[in-house]
Amino acid sequence: MADHWVENHKRDSWRKQAKASGYRARSAFKLKQIQERFNLVREGDFVLDVGCHPGGWAQVAVELVGDDGKVVGVDLQPCAPVEGAILLTGDITDPLTQERILEELDGETLNVIVSDISPHITGKWDMDQSVAMTLVADVFDFALPLLKKGGGFTTKLFQGIGVEELIAAVRPHFSSVRRFSPDASRNSSSEVYLVCKHHTPWKAPKVSVRERYETAVNKLVGGEEIEADPEPVASSFRVRRKKSDDGLEEH
Ligand SMILES: C[S@@+](CC[C@H](N)C(=O)[O-])C[C@H]1O[C@@H](n2cnc3c(N)ncnc32)[C@H](O)[C@@H]1O
Repeated sequence: MADHWVENHKRDSWRKQAKASGYRARSAFKLKQIQERFNLVREGDFVLDVGCHPGGWAQVAVELVGDDGKVVGVDLQPCAPVEGAILLTGDITDPLTQERILEELDGETLNVIVSDISPHITGKWDMDQSVAMTLVADVFDFALPLLKKGGGFTTKLFQGIGVEELIAAVRPHFSSVRRFSPDASRNSSSEVYLVCKHHTPWKAPKVSVRERYETAVNKLVGGEEIEADPEPVASSFRVRRKKSDDGLEEH
């Protein structure tokens, strides 16, 4: 009960701060806290914001990169304009959307990729968590070739089966890969951020992140054989999304 009260109190406090500071979503503070801790984004950087709706992270990214930087965001849902950012609508895994992102890059490479992507939630937690992790692997596979040597990458992960395997698949691409739970994360038991720094493209394995991740998970859950009647596996994955009374998006 006491923990529940503390969680609600914290959530209200971040929501009030978001409203007072003009951010569209409480999630803006998650990126701010990642930045405070890891100094991921610098002035003048070129940033790709994956899963940018409603625009909280894009607002923070624009502040961080300043007038000489550039921010391109992409989301399935159309996003109201954020001054200083180019926000595209589309599925990051769709080749047409990827083509549009490449057009915006116009041959340049990225300094930082920030991804807060969360797929549509069905309520079947194990399936949702598995879909979310595969999507994160796909984001890495699309975006890593666009990232400069030495560049940074942060992404949301959902706790559960496959987290360690995904981290292991990503590790060879960076010299530092850390987990971080910002205070502003409402449900810290299911949500954690991976913060990767110092991209090392020369060490990149030939096989994609997704393939290495899926191979490792298959091994973990007992090979590729399909059980006739598999037992459900417990997971702590929980995501709820609603609009609060004050109009700020709950992210
Ligand atoms: C938690 S929200 C992002 C909040 C955002 N960082 C902010 O601060 O405003 C996650 C977003 O991921 C988006 N998303 C999910 N799957 C996607 C996909 N395949 N391609 C692009 N965006 C996707 C959802 O539409 C959703 O808006």
